[in-house]
Amino acid sequence: MARKTKLIVDRDFQIGEIDKRVYSSFIEHLGRAVYNGIYQPGHPSADEQGFRRDVIDLVKDLGVTQVRYPGGNFVSNFRWEDSVGPKENRKPMLDLAWRTYEPNTFGINEFSKWSAKAGTDIMMAVNLGTRGTEEALALLEYCNMDTESYWADLRRRHGDEKPYGIKLWCLGNEMDGPWQMGHKEAKEYGRLAAETAKAMKTMDHSIQTVVCGSASRTMPTFGKWEYQVLNEAYDYVDYVSLHQYWSNRAGDTEDFFAGSDDLDDFLHSVISICDAVKAEKNSKKTVNLSFDEWNVWYHSNAADDKAMEEQPWRRHPHLLEDIYTFEDAIMDGLALIKFLQHADRVKIACLAQLVNVIAPIMTEDDGKAWRQTIFWPFWLVSHYGRGTALVPVLKGDDHPTSRHDHVSDVEAVAVMNEEEDRLVIFAANRCVQDPVEFTADIRGFEGYRVLDFEALESDDLKAVNSEAGEVVKPMKRSDAVLDAGVLTTMLRPASFVTIVLGK
Ligand code: AHR
Repeated sequence: MARKTKLIVDRDFQIGEIDKRVYSSFIEHLGRAVYNGIYQPGHPSADEQGFRRDVIDLVKDLGVTQVRYPGGNFVSNFRWEDSVGPKENRKPMLDLAWRTYEPNTFGINEFSKWSAKAGTDIMMAVNLGTRGTEEALALLEYCNMDTESYWADLRRRHGDEKPYGIKLWCLGNEMDGPWQMGHKEAKEYGRLAAETAKAMKTMDHSIQTVVCGSASRTMPTFGKWEYQVLNEAYDYVDYVSLHQYWSNRAGDTEDFFAGSDDLDDFLHSVISICDAVKAEKNSKKTVNLSFDEWNVWYHSNAADDKAMEEQPWRRHPHLLEDIYTFEDAIMDGLALIKFLQHADRVKIACLAQLVNVIAPIMTEDDGKAWRQTIFWPFWLVSHYGRGTALVPVLKGDDHPTSRHDHVSDVEAVAVMNEEEDRLVIFAANRCVQDPVEFTADIRGFEGYRVLDFEALESDDLKAVNSEAGEVVKPMKRSDAVLDAGVLTTMLRPASFVTIVLGK
């Protein structure tokens, strides 16, 4: 019997407005993300500031709204003052996170200019590993203040008259991770984060802060860490961070796709902890979620461990250069559907990362920039997923996987854009062998028709893109039928579709 799933959406059953920062990404001083990624003076496509134009064009095309910078693990032993001002005075450093030589020829002066050209906002991280409140305040003053004080003045002397106006600040990175320079206990970090955020917000009332949650759902301290940290810092922070990377090391694709159910549990758990602390504190404020690192990451792990061990202190080495498969793209699409299903609480999400390092965009040092498979789910959702997420009532078949008992065949969400009079359905078939007959009851959207139907499909789960050819990309389909308010189509095995409806 054919497998079937029915989606019901109603314009009055809303999850919430989708925050445009859900389409954020991440640039860390790591491998070739900055050097020979976004910045490569002398490359044929480089502009007068050394920024690769081919990369900027792809970043714009991808629909990225905001970029987290400069780490990641890198930030936890970073001295930002060494990376600003005249380049001849900058101090090279040894980055302990990735055991790499950091020339500091690219810093916040350059990143603010790059961001303006790429049309992206900055999400800035401060070092709460080897440094503390004082250095965070100095950086905030340098970036955001128009006062006649030392650090603001220094920025002006460095040629940037206007403050950068950075609104979103991460209070360190993955501070529960034993690998982190300056790793801390929960209470210790919670106090430092609270005092740093308090001081930063006293300097600049317009900023928002993100406190570090656990480095992942699988950390032994997960849960307790969030609870203790929020207990200390609740009043001074706006978001708690979540990080998650998926892998298909076992070669079990259906179980890999079931990872989006684990993501759902993860989101529910962190939301529950935020709200428990809120209740305990009798607070009126809600702390929301910043999923500031997410992606598939595993293809390059073994090579990277070897390279960092055997060849440390190189300049912009090839690190974390995962080459993504078709199935990785489907997994990323599933994660994006999940974020939209939680649009009321997930306000920020950063695809980690953006260029060369576990990235949708790759560059050849002596060649062009190209799109990995995972470029496409982000592209589809960032372009069409603007507006209000609607509650997806899903009824249909499910299947077991090696580690999950009941995995729904289809994951889906719908987004209503009232300004443009559009309804967009994102759906993914998590069955690897079977197609699914998919129907969507879109009650309340009278007079709509199918305007566009784009599908990420492949017969080869392991298909990859390369500089020579981008074989994995969305294809147009025209076989969705809308009759009396019910849309019907077939979802191919392991596929992700975007269906745009309007008048
Ligand atoms: O994105 C790569 C690394 O993953 C980041 O530096 C760190 O925060 C996480 O562990």
